[in-house]
Amino acid sequence: MEYSELIGKRYSVRSYRSLEVSDEQLQHVLDAARLAPSAANRQPFQLIVIRTAGREEELRRIYRPEWFTQAPIVICAVGVPAWGWTRRDGKCYIDVDVAIAMDHLILAAADQGLGTCWIGAFDPDAAREILGLPEDVEPIAFTPLGYPADQLGPKQRKPLTDLVRYERW
Ligand SMILES: Cc1cc2nc3c(=O)[nH]c(=O)nc-3n(C[C@H](O)[C@H](O)[C@H](O)COP(=O)(O)O)c2cc1C
Repeated sequence: MEYSELIGKRYSVRSYRSLEVSDEQLQHVLDAARLAPSAANRQPFQLIVIRTAGREEELRRIYRPEWFTQAPIVICAVGVPAWGWTRRDGKCYIDVDVAIAMDHLILAAADQGLGTCWIGAFDPDAAREILGLPEDVEPIAFTPLGYPADQLGPKQRKPLTDLVRYERW
C-alpha cells in the first residue's frame, strides 16, 4: 500500500476476528519495529509476544475490555531505561523510542490487513506481575494483533491550523 493511503487507512481496531496471524506476518511486523530509528540507535526496548488463547481472563487483568483478548496475539512493548539514551539535562528518551517502534509495527500491521490498537490505559502492576517484568523494565504500550472485525470510521482530527505554527510560538 502507498504510504499516504496506509496512514489514512490505519485506525484503532476494537473488535477482532478469531483468525490466526501467520508466523510470517508476525515476523514482518516485528521487523518493522526493529527497523525504527531510536536515540543514539540504542533500541532500548523489548517486544513481548503473547498468545491470548487460554489466557483471556489473566490478560484482562492488564486491560479489561473484552476485545483486548479477541485477537490471537497481544504485543507488549517495554522500555529499559538503562539501555536508553538520556540527554544531558536528564531527559530519558525510552518513551519516544518505544513510540516510534510501536508506530512502525502498527503501520506494518495495517499494511498486512491486520488490526492493532495502542493501549496505554493498562494496569502496570498487573502487567509486571503477569509478564514477570524486572523492576528496571517499564511496560509502555500494549496492542492486540489480529484481523479486524470492525471498520474504519471517520477520522476525527484537529485541522492543521490548530497544530502548526511557523517560525516561532
Ligand atoms: C499513547 C496512546 C495511548 C492510547 N491508549 C488507548 C487505550 O488505552 N485504549 C484505547 O481504546 N485506545 C487507546 N489509544 C488509541 C487512541 O484512542 C486513538 O489512536 C485515537 O482516538 C485516534 O483514533 P485512531 O487510532 O482510530 O485514528 C491510545 C493511543 C495512543 C497513541
